[in-house]
Amino acid sequence: MCGIVGYVGRSEAAPILLDGLRRLGYRGYDSAGVAIVNGNKVETRKCAGRIAELGKLMAERPPTGTYGISHTRWATHGKPTDQNAHPHFDATGRLALVHNGVIENYQALKDQLIRDGDTNFASETDTEVLAHLIGKLYDQSIAADTSSNGKTKAELPNKKGRLVEAVRTALRQVIGTYGIALVHRDIPDFIVGARRGSPLVLGVGKDENFLASDVSAIVAYTRDAVYLNDFDVVAVERDKFEISSVAGEGGNYQVSKVEFTDADIKKGDYPHYMLKEIFEQPGSVRDAMRGRLSQEECTAKLGGLNMTPAQLRDVGRVVLTGCGTALHAAMIGEYLIEQLAQIPTEVEYASEFRHRNTPMTRDTLVFAISQSGETADTLGALRESRRKGYRTLGICNNVASTIARESDGGVYMHAGPEIGVAATKSFTSQVAILTAIGLLLGRMRHLSTSEGTRIIEALEALPEQIEEVLKLSDQMKAIAKKYASVSGLLFFGRQFNFPIAVEAALKLKEITYLFAEGHPSAELKHGIIALIRPDLPSVFIAPDDAVFSKNMNNIEQVRARKGPVIAITSGNCAKQLKGIADDIVTVPKVPDFVSPILTVIPLQLLAYHLAVELGRDVDKPRNLAKSVTVE
Ligand code: AGP
Ligand code: GLU
Repeated sequence: MCGIVGYVGRSEAAPILLDGLRRLGYRGYDSAGVAIVNGNKVETRKCAGRIAELGKLMAERPPTGTYGISHTRWATHGKPTDQNAHPHFDATGRLALVHNGVIENYQALKDQLIRDGDTNFASETDTEVLAHLIGKLYDQSIAADTSSNGKTKAELPNKKGRLVEAVRTALRQVIGTYGIALVHRDIPDFIVGARRGSPLVLGVGKDENFLASDVSAIVAYTRDAVYLNDFDVVAVERDKFEISSVAGEGGNYQVSKVEFTDADIKKGDYPHYMLKEIFEQPGSVRDAMRGRLSQEECTAKLGGLNMTPAQLRDVGRVVLTGCGTALHAAMIGEYLIEQLAQIPTEVEYASEFRHRNTPMTRDTLVFAISQSGETADTLGALRESRRKGYRTLGICNNVASTIARESDGGVYMHAGPEIGVAATKSFTSQVAILTAIGLLLGRMRHLSTSEGTRIIEALEALPEQIEEVLKLSDQMKAIAKKYASVSGLLFFGRQFNFPIAVEAALKLKEITYLFAEGHPSAELKHGIIALIRPDLPSVFIAPDDAVFSKNMNNIEQVRARKGPVIAITSGNCAKQLKGIADDIVTVPKVPDFVSPILTVIPLQLLAYHLAVELGRDVDKPRNLAKSVTVE
């Protein structure tokens, strides 16, 4: 969760660390802090609240020095207070450590430290226990050195080696997840990092190196990155680094070029990242399809799946797993793959799939869907599925993310960085990719070339149609103003648009904090109708499709009970809704299987404008983190 930035080089560390934290701010956090080493002083500034508060503290008393670590915290153990903010120190105050993740056995480790006489704990966090443990192991190692029997100094590992060894020994005792970075007052220009379950990237610069939980923090300084693997330990100096494993073996690594530039993660003229990302969808959907549709063979070409035609043909069942918005894309994927390829498909909450005994057939193909590629629940599901021997593929946006690396193959979204906590463009890219997967699997079976061509044409037409839909932004703003004082909203849809009702409700909850629910339209009469009242509008996603008249019945049922209705429709159906729905929003008419990619956009805009109207922090909604790397 949240973020780590470390720097060792020749420049002042403070502005680089603060800038890195700002860039990671989108991941969600409740406290922030830095530790910078200057001679034999470790200067720390930390506080609960915004990075701006930390910036103020740093401006009042600027910490100086050319190496240090920094952190944004998303509290798991201990309230978000100044005291619990990272960095945390060892018992002697010489070692400072930042940590993302959870040390599950922290209490047992703490009890042992206390039994050994260390009672000097300053916070309620699990993290501080790890700092104490590493500090203690390091000091013991140094003490052993001074009383060493007969060995000359040259034969003994140096301080750097001893610190790395202390980190390894401590981490071998840890149960849980961690991305960590630490500095020690006695070891100049030296940072140690390690990861298990929480991402950590090494940025390789010229005469300077970086550590970060996400490349966006450091892309302004270098585009050469080493994505660390679980159980990697990295010793970072100004002009070199060394990667090994927690077990003490040499690590394998590769330096990769970061795909995007600093300009891609700027807001530009948009007031919020979320709005920028909504407006990027013509391009992101185009990029999700680029080079992947073959007019010639009337199918999709997805080489990254790493599957032969025979293997694709033999898929007998599909399981789609993910969390939140990715799960909603999976729900549409179920309709798509079953309709286009006639393959039985299940959607599984990643958090449930991982712990329950889902019956699987030998020919089941599993997809883990995740924008960040780091979601702990989805990663857990992927690992469980692979452990059982099922071919498990990833649909990820973040290149080289853990899910992308651990899967047997997959499809990258190429949507560009998504900074807004509320997922928007990643959703439409996921649905576009699932349509391409449905097309590919369908064309391995019964789908004719003309049906294949029809699907390709529908996909290729989308970017222009999305441009049209984006013109509805002002109308959605007016609707948001009109309903700004409602107590909540209900969303209804059928077939391909039922998951859009659920996704629209999630968007609304996340950024407006209003109550919202999404349901299949027909479920209305099975209970939800009891909620209908004048201050609770119902949004119906009712495009011109085979179930439009059924949706109309449900709309009438709401009207009869004085519930306001906002209809998202298409084509000629707008006319039929006149005088029945209070507000009518019309998107282009398209084949039913691509319609969710268009209908979701006005609803993203509705959530956005309503949140702005209510004065919410759109890009950093309360309590939420962009990438949830804890269970
Ligand atoms: C979406 O708006 C949410 N912020 C959240 O539900 C998100 O989709 C979920 O946490 C999964 O994230 P991922 O795609 O990075 O795995
Ligand atoms: N578990 C640690 C804490 O509560 C780290 C949380 C985080 O990932 O920021 O302080």
